[in-house]
Amino acid sequence: MDIKKLISEMTLEEKASLLSGLDFWHTKPVERLGIPSVMVSDGPHGLRKQSDQADHLGVNESIKAVCMPTACATAASFDRDMLRQIGEAVGDACQHEKVAVDLGPAVNIKRSPLCGRNFEYFSEDPYLAAELSTSLIKGIQSRNIGVSVKHFAANSQEHRRMSSDSVVDERTLREIYYPAFESAVKDGKAWTVMCSYNRLNGEYASQHRGLLTDLLRGEWGFDGYVVSDWGAVSDRVKGVHAGLDLEMPASGGTNDQRVVEAVRAGELDEKDVDLAVERILTVHKRYWDNAKPDTPWDMEAQHELARQLAAECMVLLKNEDGVLPIAQDETVAVIGRFAKVPRYQGGGSSHINSFKVESLLDALEGNEKITYAQGYDIVTEEPDEALIAEAVEAAKKADKAVIVAGLPDSFESEGYDRTHMRMPACQVALIERVAAVNPNTIVVLYNGSPVEMPWIGCVKAVVEGYLGGQAVGGATKLVLWGDVNPCGRLPESFPIKLEHNPSYLTYGGEGDTAIYSEGVFVGYRYYDRKCMDVLFPFGYGLSYTSYEYSNLTVSADSIRDTDTLNVTVDVTNTGKLPGKEVMQLYVGDCESSVFRPVRELKGFEKVALQPGETKTVSFTLGKRAFAYWNAALHDWHVESGAFTIEIGRSSRDIALSKTINVESTVEVPAHFTVNSIFADFMKSPKAMAVLAPIVEEMAHGMGMGGDSETAQSAISSEMVEAMVRYMPLRSVASFSGGKLGYKELSALVDMINNA
Ligand code: BGC
Repeated sequence: MDIKKLISEMTLEEKASLLSGLDFWHTKPVERLGIPSVMVSDGPHGLRKQSDQADHLGVNESIKAVCMPTACATAASFDRDMLRQIGEAVGDACQHEKVAVDLGPAVNIKRSPLCGRNFEYFSEDPYLAAELSTSLIKGIQSRNIGVSVKHFAANSQEHRRMSSDSVVDERTLREIYYPAFESAVKDGKAWTVMCSYNRLNGEYASQHRGLLTDLLRGEWGFDGYVVSDWGAVSDRVKGVHAGLDLEMPASGGTNDQRVVEAVRAGELDEKDVDLAVERILTVHKRYWDNAKPDTPWDMEAQHELARQLAAECMVLLKNEDGVLPIAQDETVAVIGRFAKVPRYQGGGSSHINSFKVESLLDALEGNEKITYAQGYDIVTEEPDEALIAEAVEAAKKADKAVIVAGLPDSFESEGYDRTHMRMPACQVALIERVAAVNPNTIVVLYNGSPVEMPWIGCVKAVVEGYLGGQAVGGATKLVLWGDVNPCGRLPESFPIKLEHNPSYLTYGGEGDTAIYSEGVFVGYRYYDRKCMDVLFPFGYGLSYTSYEYSNLTVSADSIRDTDTLNVTVDVTNTGKLPGKEVMQLYVGDCESSVFRPVRELKGFEKVALQPGETKTVSFTLGKRAFAYWNAALHDWHVESGAFTIEIGRSSRDIALSKTINVESTVEVPAHFTVNSIFADFMKSPKAMAVLAPIVEEMAHGMGMGGDSETAQSAISSEMVEAMVRYMPLRSVASFSGGKLGYKELSALVDMINNA
């Protein structure tokens, strides 16, 4: 298929028709020229292919498929290979079902625990989100199925999602909200990007040329097409010019017509239309050339995989007295409706019609040491005395009590945000009452986002299972009974209470204006800088074995910002069970002219270790690991000075640390005026070469010469220097006795700026 030639043969109407969908899930064909339609479908954690009565909210049934662990869970794996495997499984399903583009992954940053879609997102940390989602992308695209990385950009709330304006400064966008998209494009080579519903700094993402063309294509080299989120188009003509290639779903022909009219009226260049068509067809051709509908889709095998993976996502948050794992001969009261009917995915467009679901009770079938009590109702929030009494009786008789709790569907979903971080009152009451009669109470949580845990002190163990996909029950059994050693780590901080979250004061916004006022201080970047207690920190998670870290080495004590630094560290399994440890590397800038977090995750590796085994883990750090986004340079910048290299068990538990020096090779150009202050001139050697005599004279002029000999005048000269620091150069005119006026000072400034 010669795409350019085909385009040259198309009428304007045919070209415009290709810029919007045929229906909910298909693009339009051009039968006259033999261009077929393609199908796209949702699928961040499994295929949601709808046939009839399509909708984008997951309301109507889709075909049977496999629900893998959702992103909130897989992010806790800290395991790139796992994400790749999930991607391959989803890619196979898409090939089998003739779906050309999978609408995922969703990589927005978890700014607040309240976002209704957090279960679909990876992390509060941009590096973790980028690394894991890019692995997923590579897995899917290895099957010659395109991804649509979404929702670009700064779409971290559901509240007023189709109208809200995310007001975010440039540095924060670059450091926090863009990296996962940047990595998807540069490293993952994503075929398509889905723009978000919201506006970004005043302009709808769907018609934001700075975002869709200058940044995405110009800077990052994106060569695929941009598709709108479903119904995200406001001004279609502006969108085409901005770089929004495909509008989904169908616009009923109205926007196609507007595009045609705009071209005819000279408001839109036909070349913009041609370019969009070319991008869409180029991507679809990759699929057409590699379609393999005979690809087998072994759902049973994928279910087994989903179980194993979900087990390795679970995070052991507490395990007093080694109450876990449960021994085979111990009696256990399994309590909670979620043990029978698990919550394993979120609501909305990612909702999978699972071909089967495995609950904890299913997985324990035939185990005679088990009793079950429902404990709570998922519809009513208030405690049900009869259900609690039954659970308490069961718990009294058992060696251990396992309560499976979490958040009901209605608490978190696409389309709206949570209003609080609490669990249902009936579950809190149940946990407290059961823990009062059974000292070995274990809580398993199925939820898509952090919850407050006022009951944490009453129970011995807590396992965070997140939304672990359709085999979550089997996975829970594997972890509780010790067949899998827990190895997940929190991909987000759990604040003690919602009010502690950095976005608390402005989250959701006033009307449509959502100002991201905490800037780069999202999640642990904020809690660590403020030395605040958290319930559980970012990166945290326990194991049934123990690990020791040793021999942290760096390849150099001093590097330039153009060099790379190699870091190695040894990790030993010092316990009795095999396990997997997540090695986390954080970098911190010891002194900086801009506000920076104490530490930021810049490397992680998951390592499998037999008891007694030691492995050496290596990391390579490039410029980005040390840099912040300098808005004046419009580039990543490293300030010269000392940086910490830390190996931590979490952002709050640093085991080993070294300090190295990084030399900048970039001079930040300063543009001085007569209103610039001396403190800034003093940082610039070329400015001081010109101004040193004047500074000296200023000090004299104020009666405080640098050559004073008494202690009294020495103190005074420091005071004068401190005062001079914040004076603008123009004040010299007032203190030089008329020797240097505004004109002379302007000439000096020109001399410095041109030096
Ligand atoms: C969601 C997207 C989804 C699309 C199609 C939208 O409402 O925001 O994530 O891909 O619907 O279902």
